[in-house]
Amino acid sequence: EEDPRINGIRTKIRVVPNFPKPGIMFQDITTLLLEPKAFKDTIDLFVERYKGKNISVVAGIEARGFIFGPPIALAIGAKFVPLRKPKKLPGEVMHEEYVLEYGRDCIEMHVGAVKAGERALVVDDLIATGGTLSAAINLLERAGAEVVECACVIELPELKGRERLSGKSLYILVEYR
Ligand code: PRP
Repeated sequence: EEDPRINGIRTKIRVVPNFPKPGIMFQDITTLLLEPKAFKDTIDLFVERYKGKNISVVAGIEARGFIFGPPIALAIGAKFVPLRKPKKLPGEVMHEEYVLEYGRDCIEMHVGAVKAGERALVVDDLIATGGTLSAAINLLERAGAEVVECACVIELPELKGRERLSGKSLYILVEYR
């Protein structure tokens, strides 16, 4: 019952042990991007899920949400809004901090990019602890948007990031255990 395209996608993701530090199994999606069929299947699976759902905003998280988000946005007729690391956006920003394993980080969104009442989809390559996605949800909700769902290519379920999304729905293609 798994879509036959999923396994093709799974096999194109390279796992790099001990990157960027010892003990981390880095999920490298650049190898997926090298395979036009698997890359297209990835985008198509998301587009099939979200087209016709009245989503007006796709918010992509820096950096790899900027790869998967825009083709989804174009295909479903939504705008694309980049959620960026601090001090990258030139206009007035809203920022949202989140807690990391050691320390804090922050993402920012341009004021006015999203209007109250818009229906938003949040896109990234991967959910680990869920800190980044939860901050993205907070930013969009502070702007008055409704977050319909979060979509990632990969989930690391052992880190239980889903539990940090305050009940928001999360859709993923591949689990890495
Ligand atoms: C990775 C990944 C997500 C985030 C997920 O980004 O692309 O954005 O971590 O982690 P979390 O669920 O624990 O918050 P990374 O920190 O590598 O930043 P980059 O995309 O700028 O390289």
